Amino acid sequence: MMTVTAKVDRWNPNPDVIAEAAEIIKAGGLVAFPTETVYGLGADALNTQAVSSIFTAKGRPQDNPLIVHVYSLEQAESAVHMNDSAYRLARTFWPGPLTLVLPSRDIIPAATRAGLSTAAVRMPDNPTARALIFASGTMIAAPSANTSGRPSPTDAETVLHDMAGKIDMILDGGSVKLGIESTVIDLTDAARPLMLRPGGMPREVIEAELGRALEVYDTGSMKRSPGTRYRHYAPDIPVVIWRKGEKLTGDYAYMGMNIPDGVNMDRAVIFSSAENFAHGLFAGLRRLEREDVSYIAVEWPEEESGLAEGLRDRISRSAGHI
Ligand code: TXA
Ligand code: MG
Repeated sequence: MMTVTAKVDRWNPNPDVIAEAAEIIKAGGLVAFPTETVYGLGADALNTQAVSSIFTAKGRPQDNPLIVHVYSLEQAESAVHMNDSAYRLARTFWPGPLTLVLPSRDIIPAATRAGLSTAAVRMPDNPTARALIFASGTMIAAPSANTSGRPSPTDAETVLHDMAGKIDMILDGGSVKLGIESTVIDLTDAARPLMLRPGGMPREVIEAELGRALEVYDTGSMKRSPGTRYRHYAPDIPVVIWRKGEKLTGDYAYMGMNIPDGVNMDRAVIFSSAENFAHGLFAGLRRLEREDVSYIAVEWPEEESGLAEGLRDRISRSAGHI
């Protein structure tokens, strides 16, 4: 298969390019596209055959369900049974980096939700993503557009690196805005909102909107978010978590906000904030794994709010702590 890359202005995507991509989606093909979080690997969420080719292209375990990307609230209502909390969060935070898990309607094929009775829905905040969903006239199932287990792609070059020859088209809308994936909230039990995956929408703003604390995932809820079971975001060399003040030994590359004593700055990526850290984490892991070192030291961000919780989740998983 030839993978075509088409450049788009993320804020004002060329309608001809969007129409071409939409035709591929309608025909059951695969199109990678930018969202505000990471690049997604999209297929018609209602087409079982198309959805199974996502799993093949990524090498994704069949029991890990996909997020259904929608253009409008009405589309979300056609996919899942919304409840009051869902309406509240959707009205406040969509389009945005928030995914809601709710009881699925029959229209969503079992392949998309990996056989679960629930489905995950999200309205992405990216003009190219929105234009593509609208033009394709369907909902788009899209995991992150990386080979399963690798760091997620935050630019089109990385998508091409992992997906060349495996998908039909890549919409190149440049570097993404956030850099880590959406926050996933399970609202199946409206009385007990559960955070399945921290991410681009900070916990505290969701809790403020709901007027209550989110329950944390435990072993029980891990079962409810199958994706969190697998090793994720892993570069080719080990990731070691570093806390400010600790001593690092041996040959290593470094990524973080503080500068460790004795670090080789040629092999270091230094960020000025948790937001920048989130933006550069995945690309940084992919760059530093190519250095001639035995591990990548990644700082453990200690901040309470903002993107730090999502960052900690991605860092601990890339270090192999599941
Ligand atoms: O920001 C994002 O969410 C990106 C962009 C492309 O939208 N997508 C993304 O998809 O991160 P993926 O497949 O890499 O992660 C989806 C997560 C997985 O942890 C999966 O297990 C969980 O959402 N998930 C999907 N459907 C679910 C369901 N019905 N119940 C529980 N968890 C679900
Ligand atoms: Mg992923």
